Order: sequence, then C-alpha cells, then structure tokens
Amino acid sequence: MHEDTYPWPHKDLLDVTGLSRRDVFRLLDSARSFHEINRRPVKKVPTLKGKTVVLFFAEPSTRTRVSFDTAGKRLSADTFALGKSGSSQLKGETLKDTALTLQAMNPDVIVIRDSSSGAAQFLAERLRCPVVNAGDGCHAHPTQALLDAYALRDAWHDKFEGKTLVILGDSAHGRVARSNVHLLTSLGVRVRLCGPRTLLPPGVEKWPVEVFSRVEDAVQDADAVMCLRLQLERQQAGLLPDLRDYSARYCLTPARLALARPGARVLHPGPLNRGLEISSELADSSASLILDQVAAGVAVRMAVLYLYATRSDAAVGAGEPA
Ligand code: CP
Repeated sequence: MHEDTYPWPHKDLLDVTGLSRRDVFRLLDSARSFHEINRRPVKKVPTLKGKTVVLFFAEPSTRTRVSFDTAGKRLSADTFALGKSGSSQLKGETLKDTALTLQAMNPDVIVIRDSSSGAAQFLAERLRCPVVNAGDGCHAHPTQALLDAYALRDAWHDKFEGKTLVILGDSAHGRVARSNVHLLTSLGVRVRLCGPRTLLPPGVEKWPVEVFSRVEDAVQDADAVMCLRLQLERQQAGLLPDLRDYSARYCLTPARLALARPGARVLHPGPLNRGLEISSELADSSASLILDQVAAGVAVRMAVLYLYATRSDAAVGAGEPA
C-alpha cells in the first residue's frame, strides 16, 4: 500500500463523479490506515481534535448516520446529530435556513442526508463549510460506493480490473446503484444490472453496463453480486404486480450464486429485506461481505471527514480532472 498525499482539491463530496482515480485511491488508502485504528483496544486518535462535524439526517438511517458519528468521535471531532423530527423544519423552516443556522455555529463539515435529489448540491452552493452527501433522494450516495469499493478491494486482493459485479434488484430508485456504477466502472470493473424492466433506471441503455432480465444469466461467471433493497417507500404503485413473484424471480439464493464464479462474494448496502431480495441463508453465509461493508463504512467515513475537515481553500479546484 502506498499513501499518496497532496492537498485535497475538493470543497464538498457530492458524488463520486467529481473524484479522479487518484482521489479515489487516496481515500481508499487513507481508509485502510484508519481501519487499523478501529481494531485497536482504544479506538481513538486526536487527528480532528477541535473540529466540529454536524450530521443532519432528514431521512432515516442506521448505518450511515452511526458510522459518520463513530468516525468523527474516533478522530476526536465533536459530532452533533440532528434529525428532521427534532429540528425546526417541522415548524416550517426551510432547508436553506436550517443549514445557514448550522453554519453560523462554524462547523468544519456538514454531513447531510435528505429525500430530495440535489439537496447536498443546493447546500454546497450556499455554505462556506464542506458539505458531504450521505444520500440524496435517488441521486447519489458517494460514501456507500466508496465503502463498497473498499470491501471489494479487500475481497479481490487489490484487483478491480477484469472483475465482474452484478447489481441485482431495484436500481431505478437506487442512489447506491448510480454511484457504484460510476465508481466501479471507472476502476475497471465490468458491471451488470439485473432486474425487472420497471426497476431499471430510465436511460439505462446509455450507462456503461450490461443489462439482464434473468438472474441466472446475469450471475454467470460473476465475481460478486450486490443485492439492492426493494425501495418500497420510493415506488409508485404498479411497478411490481406481486412481491412473491419478484422474490421467486429475483431473490439471490445459494442455488443462484452457485452459477457465479467459485468464491463469488455477496454484498448488500442494507437495510435488508430478507427473503425478498436476498435469502437469509446467503446473507448469513461466509460468502457475505455485508458486515465487512459496515466495518468499511466507519473507516471510509473517517477518511472522508479527515480529508474534508483538514482541506485548505487554496487547494480547492487544483486537482486532476475526474
Ligand atoms: N446503506 C445505507 O445507507 O444504510 P442506512 O440507510 O441505514 O444508512
């Protein structure tokens, strides 16, 4: 492993599309260093002592919110979490006014999750401090894609080129699919999308992926399969006639994974609908990287907070093109 160091050239992390290949490996390498801290008996270093991180989560989250909070605390930053239900947004305050109010308290990073696509960008254009997108609507989830790349990099022994990943399920409503397709194809991974036509993204024919409608065809010779949660809360009625039929045709089971390359791994960003998009047996099997993804999430978010909380305005925009 090498640690490439250079002034971090980005003010905000809105999507992986803004990151160059060098930036991605810088982040993944930094995350590896931070992962080591997470295995120590005392999991705390003074790296971000005196820095303040605000976590503004206007949508439910377990993994992303707790891992950003844990990441900040392990780096000795002061972290404050605010949810929509506990904020003055319930009294009618706009997102912009909430964010300007938080900025007036002079945080070093604001992490935001919101149900509106573009919410993070909207804030980034209005705030001086770095904004990190923790998932905005159906648009992007950059730290999820980075942690997935981290988990795959470990599982594939640092090799991305020539590997094949199947993304199975609801990619139409999935910010995870969008960010992963961009990041992993840029690293040399062949990506296949599989799902019913109604759950594939509009314009998918222009994406750098192969598209399959049958799981049995998609998983042939694949090195990993990433199951996506059926996002029932984002679906308009009528996209799926019958959940039992969906499960029968698209649920990843041991028999279906057996058609992939020997040793193929299984991922899921969570939360899981067990028995709907992934069988319990597979989720709990040795092929599963699901909990490795969660562990990677803390390390990757430590790297993100470190790079954004310590970046200098002078370096912003000076990086390589993405
Ligand atoms: N993967 C993910 O974003 O999970 P949470 O919604 O629990 O944060």
